[in-house]
Amino acid sequence: MLARLTQTKALHWLGRQLLNRDDPAAWLDPLAGAINPMWVQEYTPARVERIMAETADTKTFVLKPASRWTGFDAGQHVNICTEIDGIRRTRTFSLSSSPELWHKQGLITLTIKRLPGGLVTNWLHDSLSEGDILGLADAFGEFLVPQPAKPVLFIAGGSGITPVLSQLETMAASHYPAPVTLLYFVRTGNDIIGREKLEAIAARYPGLNLNIIATHEGKEPRFLCDADLEAIDGLKEREAYLCGPKGLMDLATELLQQRGLAESQMHSTFFAPPAPAALDNDQLGGEVSFTRSSVNVGSEGDANLLEIAEAAGLKPRYGCRMGICHQCSCRKTSGTVVNRLTGKVSGPGEESVQLCVSVPRGPVQIDV
Ligand code: FES
Repeated sequence: MLARLTQTKALHWLGRQLLNRDDPAAWLDPLAGAINPMWVQEYTPARVERIMAETADTKTFVLKPASRWTGFDAGQHVNICTEIDGIRRTRTFSLSSSPELWHKQGLITLTIKRLPGGLVTNWLHDSLSEGDILGLADAFGEFLVPQPAKPVLFIAGGSGITPVLSQLETMAASHYPAPVTLLYFVRTGNDIIGREKLEAIAARYPGLNLNIIATHEGKEPRFLCDADLEAIDGLKEREAYLCGPKGLMDLATELLQQRGLAESQMHSTFFAPPAPAALDNDQLGGEVSFTRSSVNVGSEGDANLLEIAEAAGLKPRYGCRMGICHQCSCRKTSGTVVNRLTGKVSGPGEESVQLCVSVPRGPVQIDV
């Protein structure tokens, strides 16, 4: 009797706590996570099922997200979050498996290269084990297979192959009815990521023309050149998908433009922040009011709104911190901001801005 009374009181207390919170998940999650990490609500928990080495510095992580995860399209990215030394870290990675694997087996894969000095990628390689739990956000991104089908040229470099692996697997499974060419640039044969998968896809999907090019195995480096493009049938009718280091993407864009491809035919995705625009620092900075938190702070120079908020002790949501994922988007209710990547100046009124790339120019009010 006493036990039932205590249980009822505890449930009432819990109900009151939840009803009185703006964000019940944030309050309840530490408790749920301590009992079972798969119960956490703020993000979708994903269990590490298997870890496989691809090359000396790249591993594929097979994850099983909780069934409430909303899935993805081939070529999309996802933010993962994990706690390292007591601090939650979020990073963006491409999904390297096809949506079919998720639909049939409830599994996804992330293929991740160790970045020199990279806190999260090195932690994933060195400390993450099978059975551990990562947090997963919803997938996002527009680097998608063309619908209806059109001829496609993929140009990938290094770990830029990861979204292309997902797309090629999907195209092979659906017998994609248009020609597909992949030019995949790696330093040496030892750096090919997904070699077995690529060869298996090429063997069962005759529509794919697979070219793997080692840039540093000859006497002279061998980079993308016009002759590579000249050899592609019907190049001008193709949709071009570019993913890899900035140097390769810039070169590919230039050569494709010279060959007459329109901007609308070229699709790219970044693995590193695009180069920032040159901003006039003298005009930047100002008083920032985080209205929901009732915090006002001054800012100087090219500090962005995310950095300003964090310096003031606030914790707005973010993902990639480089203007790609839109996880940090918030309402600006007044004031002008400059986009750090494009140099574009906003209007003075209400609009959605990405905190991580928006620099105040004069007083700004943000709904954070
Ligand atoms: S955190 Fe990804 S766009 Fe700002």
